[in-house]
Amino acid sequence: MLKFAAFKFSPLFGIITAVRVAIFPTLLAIRKDPTLLFRPNDISAVFMAHVWAGGFAEGTDTMGRPAKEQLITPNSEGVVLDIGAGHGHTIQYLNRSRVTRYVALEPNQLMHPKIRAAAHAAGFYESDGSFTILSCGAEDSASILKGLENTQADTIISVLTLCTIPNPSKSIHNLVRDVLKPNGQFLFYEHVLSHLPDVAWWQKFWAPVWQVAFDGCRLDRPTHLVFENLEVEIQGGNDGYRQDGRDSPWKEQQVWGMPDEPEEDLFWHRAGRFVKK
Ligand SMILES: C[S@@+](CC[C@H](N)C(=O)[O-])C[C@H]1O[C@@H](n2cnc3c(N)ncnc32)[C@H](O)[C@@H]1O
Repeated sequence: MLKFAAFKFSPLFGIITAVRVAIFPTLLAIRKDPTLLFRPNDISAVFMAHVWAGGFAEGTDTMGRPAKEQLITPNSEGVVLDIGAGHGHTIQYLNRSRVTRYVALEPNQLMHPKIRAAAHAAGFYESDGSFTILSCGAEDSASILKGLENTQADTIISVLTLCTIPNPSKSIHNLVRDVLKPNGQFLFYEHVLSHLPDVAWWQKFWAPVWQVAFDGCRLDRPTHLVFENLEVEIQGGNDGYRQDGRDSPWKEQQVWGMPDEPEEDLFWHRAGRFVKK
């Protein structure tokens, strides 16, 4: 009971810490460029960049390490698209001998120098075509395909990003239909809406405030269910799909939880590996 009381208020501690580390640098950025006041999305991006650089990136990576080692290291291969790359923490989990190209999609350009440094440290370079940074959002399939030079990705990875992108169902649908190769894999590690009604209630309670502090991140998205229930429209009924109409794009799917994570945790994670037909 006491434990759940602590979990209920855990987002508040996150929000207070975020404000503490990011408010002054953000105010300084606004003083330097007052036109930011007319661009609230850019203020949010500046704030998030300072939150992420102020210890959240490292702490989040440390907590997610076992899950990422299990999900990313054995499965990532070929052309990897990392949506919402942040500081490029995913790179350290890639198996360099099996990944031919690392494409970091990160709309927050303040994070690009850290992604570039992490990519170079792992042996991915723009000069030999093994590394690309895209500045568009995950919802912009057309720009992603252009950035991939009209090839498709063998592996799409989302680590704690599908909570932030606008309209995740539509973006996941379009990424799977247009950007992921047949037989390609979508790997995700996300905090998701709890199956327990009282935990879900608190997630929904905090979601609007959390969203303001963390650049749109929602605590109440059932992302794993979006993957499980996904259907794409098919013409022709080939490649293992039903005849014309809508069908699941998956030939293999697996979702799992974190063994040491209490059910009461408002940051309740699910990892998944979905393989496209
Ligand atoms: C919580 S961070 C996770 C970063 C990284 N994946 C990691 O695990 O360290 C979420 C990231 O999503 C990015 N993001 C925000 N809007 C996005 C969008 N529309 N498409 C893709 N990424 C987005 C943010 O800039 C941020 O870097």
